[in-house]
Amino acid sequence: MIIAPSLLASNFARLASEVGRVERSGADWLHLDIMDGHFVPNISFGPGLVAAIRPLTKMTFDVHLMCSRPEILLDPFARAGADRITVHVELDGQVTSLIWKIRSLGRQVGLAVNPPTAMASVKPFLDQIDSLLVMTVNPGFGGQGFITECLPKIQQAAAWRRKLGLKFRIAVDGGVDFKTAASCASAGADTFISGTSLFEHKNLKSAVAKMRKAAQSHAVPRVSLLQ
Ligand code: DX5
Ligand code: ZN
Repeated sequence: MIIAPSLLASNFARLASEVGRVERSGADWLHLDIMDGHFVPNISFGPGLVAAIRPLTKMTFDVHLMCSRPEILLDPFARAGADRITVHVELDGQVTSLIWKIRSLGRQVGLAVNPPTAMASVKPFLDQIDSLLVMTVNPGFGGQGFITECLPKIQQAAAWRRKLGLKFRIAVDGGVDFKTAASCASAGADTFISGTSLFEHKNLKSAVAKMRKAAQSHAVPRVSLLQ
């Protein structure tokens, strides 16, 4: 199980200490939401900020690009210290070349699918990715309610992974709290991105442990996965 707190929900006024708090919490990855004000109606932060916090931690940097033109951002984020870069399948015709480019930069490849987008759109790419990110809110803002209708998409991804003998991770992002993390784990998710529900706890370490426990106790048996 991977627990990935989303920096979007942290206190931006004291970012360095928030990164330290995540590092000490026992979380596995730091999730970094990149919003361009076009693909989604919000703007977050860019490669400059990612480069500035890179020396503060050894944690895996999981960069989620919610951007209309990710092709111009892959190099900058790779240089800034991203370990994994996730792009959206809604970019249609560009997906193959984006995956290739991320791979050629030596980074892990993630593919995200929005709630209204059919799972058929990700199927052709499953053997080329390291993680599938099933969005459980419409991207753009933290603190939204979990969309329960997305659970069958996680089950579908897990069924395909089993049938095709693949090892990509199944991540969920949006409205993930202790309860919805358990539902996602039962459906087959193994990677839990969570902003508001983790950061609202004063003790991030115990919140991460609680989420890990909720996920583990509902996990379905599976093949060994990519790290
Ligand atoms: C949503 C982002 C999420 C967000 C999750 O657009 O992709 O990563 O930070 O935040 P919560 O957990 O608050 O829904
Ligand atoms: Zn995200």
